Amino acid sequence: MPIQTSLTKLLGVRYPIVQGGMQWVGVPQLAASVSEAGGLGILTALTQPSPDALREAIRETRKLTSKPFGVNITLLPTINPPDYEGYARAAIEEGVKIYETAGNNPGPLIKYFKSQGCIVIHKCTTVRHAKSAERLGVDVLSIDGFECAGHPGEDDIGGLVLMARAAKELKIPFIASGGIADGRGLAAAMALGAVGVNMGTRFMCTVESPIHENIKRKIVESTERDTVHIFRSFRNTARVFKNKVAVEVVNIEHKPGAKFEDVKDLVSGLRGKKVYETGDPDYGIWSAGITIGLINDVPTCKDLLVRMEKEAEEIIGQVSSTVVKAKL
Ligand SMILES: Cc1cc2nc3c(=O)[nH]c(=O)nc-3n(C[C@H](O)[C@H](O)[C@H](O)COP(=O)(O)O)c2cc1C
Repeated sequence: MPIQTSLTKLLGVRYPIVQGGMQWVGVPQLAASVSEAGGLGILTALTQPSPDALREAIRETRKLTSKPFGVNITLLPTINPPDYEGYARAAIEEGVKIYETAGNNPGPLIKYFKSQGCIVIHKCTTVRHAKSAERLGVDVLSIDGFECAGHPGEDDIGGLVLMARAAKELKIPFIASGGIADGRGLAAAMALGAVGVNMGTRFMCTVESPIHENIKRKIVESTERDTVHIFRSFRNTARVFKNKVAVEVVNIEHKPGAKFEDVKDLVSGLRGKKVYETGDPDYGIWSAGITIGLINDVPTCKDLLVRMEKEAEEIIGQVSSTVVKAKL
């Protein structure tokens, strides 16, 4: 029996599983494979160098799948912001109907997408941000717990409490994000009131993910103790793989009076991109969540989704039979 929720109905997908936006990883090959496998694949707009390049990426994705996919736009705290409006307009003009928004001050973007009749999934890390996005009219919230890769926010609330709070406080559906890599996580998320899950790190380590095989192997070999938070002292925390560069960044940050300029070169996005291209895990900073402790293989997207649903169904069945027995 397929697991059907309000998310699968809204998005027109087979599995209630979304692949979150991932800088340098969320390219047509991966997004199309996730969608083709029955999840929701998401292209990461800012991975493309310009709005026109995003247009091309959308066209390429369409050649690979006729199923629904989305576009992520991440609003970064930066001095020279990218042309967000241009990326958004390009995606709308190319006919994309589903968006994942994330980051600071998403109001104007959300209003624009809603005015164009699109579905908006807004990703955030606190219930108060979720509630303001709800007021702005988003369709689904993606609640990213402390376990997540990338930016977990500054409140440090783990998924168990965050999802339970979301279930109590929100009027619209939400999906659970951060720390989910298998059917057990999917079942747990649904028990907490989520209508599906969002995953990043797990999809990074699939056959179709565009990153170098060495990095996939590194993820498989690593444990949940192999990530670290950088940028804590700048109140822009990011969970990344604990490599030589990340440890150096944390050491510099701990020095009194440390400024972003002191680590700027070490954390450059282009160095991170090289990690995925060359397969050298120590070349730069790269995002990874603590699910690396749960990831032991490199499946195809299809095998992953089929397996997750089967595992989740078995676990839900086991739990409900325990409840029946307890009643006897
Ligand atoms: C390599 C990588 C890059 C990411 N880049 C982005 C990004 O550009 N924008 C964004 O909203 N989230 C980004 N994320 C976060 C994911 O979309 C997702 O929220 C997160 O990975 C969920 O946690 P998980 O890794 O435990 O599944 C990234 C995650 C990874 C692993």
